[in-house]
Amino acid sequence: MLKIVEAPDPILATISTECEVGDKSLLRLAKQMAKMMYANNGCGIAAPQVGVNKRLIVIDVDWDGEESASKNPIFLVNPEIVEAKGEKVIDREACLSCPGISVPVERHPWVRVGYFDLDGEEWEIEGDGLLARCLQHEIDHLEGKTLFESCLPEVRIKALQAYDQAKAMGAKPGESSIEVQ
Ligand code: NI
Repeated sequence: MLKIVEAPDPILATISTECEVGDKSLLRLAKQMAKMMYANNGCGIAAPQVGVNKRLIVIDVDWDGEESASKNPIFLVNPEIVEAKGEKVIDREACLSCPGISVPVERHPWVRVGYFDLDGEEWEIEGDGLLARCLQHEIDHLEGKTLFESCLPEVRIKALQAYDQAKAMGAKPGESSIEVQ
């Protein structure tokens, strides 16, 4: 099983390359990513988080963390924000690659994202709330950005300090007990 790449690994700071649309080898990677996401209680994961700098993300914002609940992962190849609406909103985010902390991040409340599915068919997904936030968070990963680059600038230092503390305490992916204010 792949391991979650944790900050400050340079893989997470690298801009990922476009996938070849319809590339069948992405299927295996996508399945592994989904497995890692559910195993660590995440609602989204990007390929760099499993060590692959390709533009592929997986999201499932409806899964409630129960093993028995139905899982409906959406696989997005080469996702791109094509439209964003509304005044940005601040909310707390955690990340499997920055275990132990959650930090306030400002995001568009609504986005429309264009992408390809694993068969190479072109789609769009749009939405607000957690879906919009999750899409923006995962697409940031493809641009080499983690929570520390995306968070409110005024909390960045505090977030890094809290992360050092969390790491020292042995925080694992999926944990986010330190709330950085
Ligand atoms: Ni993340």
